[in-house]
Amino acid sequence: MKKEDLGHLRKSYDKSTLEITDVKNDPMEFFKLWLAEAVEHPDIEEANAMSLATLGLDDFPKARVVLLKAFTSEGFVFYTNYQSEKGMAIDHHCKVGLSFFWPALERQVIVKGEAEKLAPEDSDAYFKSRPVGSQLGAIVSDQSKIISDRSIIEAKLEALEIQFENEVPKRPEHWGGYLVKPNCIEFWQGRANRLHDRIRCQLQSGFWNLERLAP
Ligand SMILES: Cc1cc2nc3c(=O)[nH]c(=O)nc-3n(C[C@H](O)[C@H](O)[C@H](O)COP(=O)(O)O)c2cc1C
Repeated sequence: MKKEDLGHLRKSYDKSTLEITDVKNDPMEFFKLWLAEAVEHPDIEEANAMSLATLGLDDFPKARVVLLKAFTSEGFVFYTNYQSEKGMAIDHHCKVGLSFFWPALERQVIVKGEAEKLAPEDSDAYFKSRPVGSQLGAIVSDQSKIISDRSIIEAKLEALEIQFENEVPKRPEHWGGYLVKPNCIEFWQGRANRLHDRIRCQLQSGFWNLERLAP
């Protein structure tokens, strides 16, 4: 195959700046601010989409996109199938990475943390809040398992649609939320000449230690 050269794809970053004092020793509060700006930005779709990196049973890291559905001072929450490839990976190794990239703001946030399952009642509450189609989709899909054909899951969905016409679906045990408790959060703001701003916040003995990193 002929080499596809992408060297001409260049962008200069100049939209904003970032200082240690902006983060003010509370990276989760600061994250809230950046997320709100991303959510409100007219050129950013799915500002809550994040890459989740896990270390797999095959010892390879794998990243895939999931949606951030809540966050508190404790951490970041997403929902998935506990028996999916990522679910098995987290069972095996709970240390994970999260990253957000908001191009229109020239911002990136990178999190290292430990994932734990949410309490079943919290997963129940979120499951209940989902549209019925998404609830049935979660029941139907053995996420990450090999299937020979799409028609298998479509037929399963059709059968469930009939079964649950007058019944509220219950959360399957294999589907629920994870809370990622951060121990490192890095904020990245693009700057001119590739001299970007990077502020790393590390949790040490219950306190956040903030440092500037070279770009
Ligand atoms: C924008 C976007 C949002 C997604 N959100 C989720 C999600 O919240 N939960 C989830 O399990 N999969 C989500 N997915 C699908 C995952 O990227 C992935 O394909 C799936 O979870 C299976 O991953 P695994 O086989 O590594 O476990 C999303 C994909 C995209 C592109």
